[in-house]
Amino acid sequence: METRGCLIVSDVDGTLLGDDNLLAEFAAWFEPRRDHVKLALNSGRFYHSVKDSVLTTGLPDPDWIIGGVGTQMVEYSTEEKNSAWSDRFEKWDAKIIAELFAPIEALVRQPEEFQSPFKVSYYGYDLPEDFIEDLRDKIKGAGLEAKVVYSSNRDLDILPAQADKGKATAFLAESLGVPADRVIVCGDSGNDLAMFQQGFCGIAVANAHPELKRLPAELVYQAETPFAGGVLEGVRHWLHRFEAET
Ligand code: GLC
Ligand code: MG
Repeated sequence: METRGCLIVSDVDGTLLGDDNLLAEFAAWFEPRRDHVKLALNSGRFYHSVKDSVLTTGLPDPDWIIGGVGTQMVEYSTEEKNSAWSDRFEKWDAKIIAELFAPIEALVRQPEEFQSPFKVSYYGYDLPEDFIEDLRDKIKGAGLEAKVVYSSNRDLDILPAQADKGKATAFLAESLGVPADRVIVCGDSGNDLAMFQQGFCGIAVANAHPELKRLPAELVYQAETPFAGGVLEGVRHWLHRFEAET
């Protein structure tokens, strides 16, 4: 199958990053396959922060960076922002969301460097599901549409309804003409869940949070190796599957 190509879309922190030796192994596997294996990094961090990591760690140069939990899409070699992506966001107003949520004591606004016109983020520890449901109701009540994403029992992101890591991946795959069953997605925490809900080939690394451990095996390969080692283990699993199918 490898000759038909595939697209790997991976989270960064806790997935590709976490163990330098394992990352070096992944990079050594990936580099000679660049012709037919494309790589997008899909992070909760913004583009510039992910780019800094690419420049300062063993992360391979990606073909794309999806940043800010699916709110930014940038082609790495040209640094060109895909504005066709963010032009689709609507019924969204970051200022109103911030005003609505300011009085909620359990939520502490993340530093300004983590905020954008399309991402409003908070810290909120151990928030129960019904608390998050109430937040969704508040947003609806204000006439807005938004996606509420909770990760690692700590990070709460409010995004335009049209944006999350999964929808951004689907948009990228479609624009490249890569079918869903040739898209391999990898992650370790709640903001990666959306990538596993689009019919792609999933990988949860061994160190993934419980929110990813309970996903069904047909959709998500549960790797036995942590970090980039789990990505490589899972990619090999899916590539074997592809070969068996053809
Ligand atoms: C990254 C972002 C943070 C976000 C978290 C989870 O850490 O910097 O703003 O809340 O990912 O998506
Ligand atoms: Mg992560």
